Amino acid sequence: MEIIIQPDPGTAGALAAKIVARIIKDKPDAVVGFPTGATPLEFYRNLVRMHREEGLDFSRVTTFNLDEFVGLPPDHPGSYHVYMDKHLFGHVNVGRDRIHIPDGLAADIPATCRRYEEEIRTAGGIDVQILGIGVDGHIGFNEPTSSLGSRTRIKTLTRQTRRENAAEFGGKDNVPYHVLTMGIGTILESRLILLLAFGAKKAPIIAQTVEGPVTALIPASALQHHPRTILILDEEAAGALTKADYYRYVYEHKPDWQKY
Ligand code: PGA
Repeated sequence: MEIIIQPDPGTAGALAAKIVARIIKDKPDAVVGFPTGATPLEFYRNLVRMHREEGLDFSRVTTFNLDEFVGLPPDHPGSYHVYMDKHLFGHVNVGRDRIHIPDGLAADIPATCRRYEEEIRTAGGIDVQILGIGVDGHIGFNEPTSSLGSRTRIKTLTRQTRRENAAEFGGKDNVPYHVLTMGIGTILESRLILLLAFGAKKAPIIAQTVEGPVTALIPASALQHHPRTILILDEEAAGALTKADYYRYVYEHKPDWQKY
C-alpha cells in the first residue's frame, strides 16, 4: 500500500482528483468506480472544476457505483442516485447510458447483482476505484465478517452504519436495513484503488487497515493483498499510524517519474 498524508481534506481531495483526471486523459474510455458519503465531496468538487475549467472530458468514461440502498426509488433524497447527480453526474458530460448504480428496487436481487458483475466485466473491468471507509472498516457496504472473496450482493447494515446514515433519512429508524454492494472480491479486481479517509474518527480504523492483520473483521484490511492501493489521508486520519514518518519520507523521496 502507498500511504499519502496530506495537510487537510481539501488538498487530499484535490490530489485524488488529479490522479483520476490523469487516468481519464490517458485513457478517455476509462472505467471508474465511485463511492458516496461525506469523504469524497472535495474530490467531486475538483473533478467538476476540472471539467469546467480544463475541459476534462467524461463523454467516453464508464462509471460503476459501489452500492445502493434496497427499497429506495432513485429519486429518494437518501439514494445514491440522487447523491451522484448532485455531486458529479449533474455537472459533467458523462453519458447517462454509461452510468451504473445498483438498482435498489430490483425485483430479483440475485439476478441484478449477477448482471452488475457482468456489466463490470463487459466494460473491461474497473481502471480506478475510489473508496471511503467506515469506522468499522467497511468498504462499499461490506460490513465486518464479509467474505474477502465476496461479489456484488445484498448485505445487512450494522446498527452503527444505520445510525451513521441517519441524517440523510431524517432519523436512524428510516435508514434501510439492506443494501446492494460490490463485494470485496469485486473491489480487489480494480486495477488501481484510491482510498480516502479524513478526520480523527477514522484514525483507529486506518491504523488497523494498514498496519494490522488481514481479517474479515476489518474488511478494508483485504486491500493489503491488492497490488496498487493508494491511501490518501489527512493528518488526523493518519494520527494512529506507527510508521507515519516512513510514509512521509517515502512520499518526499519518490522518483520524479513516479510523482503525481
Ligand atoms: P463517510 O462514509 O465518507 O461519510 O465517512 C464512509 C463509508 O461509510 O464508507
